[in-house]
Amino acid sequence: MANIGLGLAALGRPGYINLGHSDDLNNKHSISAMRNNAFATLDAAWKLGIRYFDVARSYGRAEEFLGSWIRTRDISPDQVTVGSKWGYTYTAAWQVQTPPGVKHEVKRHELPVLQSQFSGTIKNLGTHLHLYQIHSATMNSGVLENQEVLAFLNRIRKTGIRVGLSVSGPEQSETIEKAISVNIDGVPLFSSVQATWNLLERSAGPTLAKASRQGLTVIVKEGVANGRLTIKNQTPEFANQFRLLKRVAAEYESTIDAISLAAALNQPWANIVLSGAANIDHLKSNVAAQELRWSSAIAEKLESLIEPPQQYWATRSQMPWN
Ligand SMILES: NC(=O)c1ccc[n+]([C@@H]2O[C@H](COP(=O)([O-])OP(=O)(O)OC[C@H]3O[C@@H](n4cnc5c(N)ncnc54)[C@H](OP(=O)(O)O)[C@@H]3O)[C@@H](O)[C@H]2O)c1
Repeated sequence: MANIGLGLAALGRPGYINLGHSDDLNNKHSISAMRNNAFATLDAAWKLGIRYFDVARSYGRAEEFLGSWIRTRDISPDQVTVGSKWGYTYTAAWQVQTPPGVKHEVKRHELPVLQSQFSGTIKNLGTHLHLYQIHSATMNSGVLENQEVLAFLNRIRKTGIRVGLSVSGPEQSETIEKAISVNIDGVPLFSSVQATWNLLERSAGPTLAKASRQGLTVIVKEGVANGRLTIKNQTPEFANQFRLLKRVAAEYESTIDAISLAAALNQPWANIVLSGAANIDHLKSNVAAQELRWSSAIAEKLESLIEPPQQYWATRSQMPWN
């Protein structure tokens, strides 16, 4: 079974697309309130045995919170694994909602962005940085063909920091295939891939299995579909799927989120499954996924939840920042 990691996308900034994000933070958005909540959630994660943490330059102060938590708790680099990402710049100025025309984050996969974001990441995380990923590489961003970016990433790799990528959208599989083929001086550049896989959107599964066979570490994100696979999802269009999930969760004395994460944890190709919890209760509920004894019988009961990828990603793109 894979291990659970903690992602800080919802912990490092006041606005995010996860369902009910604002309520989960008790609408406490000051920097100090968010730092306290992040530290408390990180402490709980550590106690629960979580040793993998995922951040990105664009997750507000997530890198800074994680770096200072690691230092104040005196955690050495060999006790923990930290992955961060470059490519998006945070532009929301610590607001839950941005003014019309202003984005929350801006994506640019170019060498100057990589160079300046890498120094920012090192400033925050120092020798605790184990993995540096391209944030949401896509086929049309051209990043996997940008020779100067690839050469810089290769220099990072040669310092002992592993290099990976995260992917999103209906073309995750094509992008992973392309990444697997990137070699520099006969050596594969990427040693990990982070992708969305959950009970609703499983299309990347076969390609993630191939990546795993080729030796890449596979990290699963959005295992509860940004909150859509939790008790919070009361949207009428999801009512039938919700009933099914509730029934199966009750049958196995579990919860919707734990069943959903257990599905990901039990994929043979998965190494790490991220929890995106923004508070301790949800984190504990997510971690209970490890206790569930997975079986083909449970998997069969949940088979009908699969959505066509285009539909899944169209719904995700409509999720409001909150
Ligand atoms: N492109 C990329 O590279 C990329 C994209 C997205 C995510 N990620 C990484 O993956 C991590 C996880 O993804 P994610 O947070 O976007 O999606 P997720 O894990 O699918 O969803 C997390 C959401 O589910 C909610 N939730 C979990 N358990 C719950 C429970 N028991 N009851 C009610 N609500 C519950 C959380 O609520 P609370 O907030 O209240 O806990 C949060 O709103 C992120 O933190 C980030 O590190 C990477």
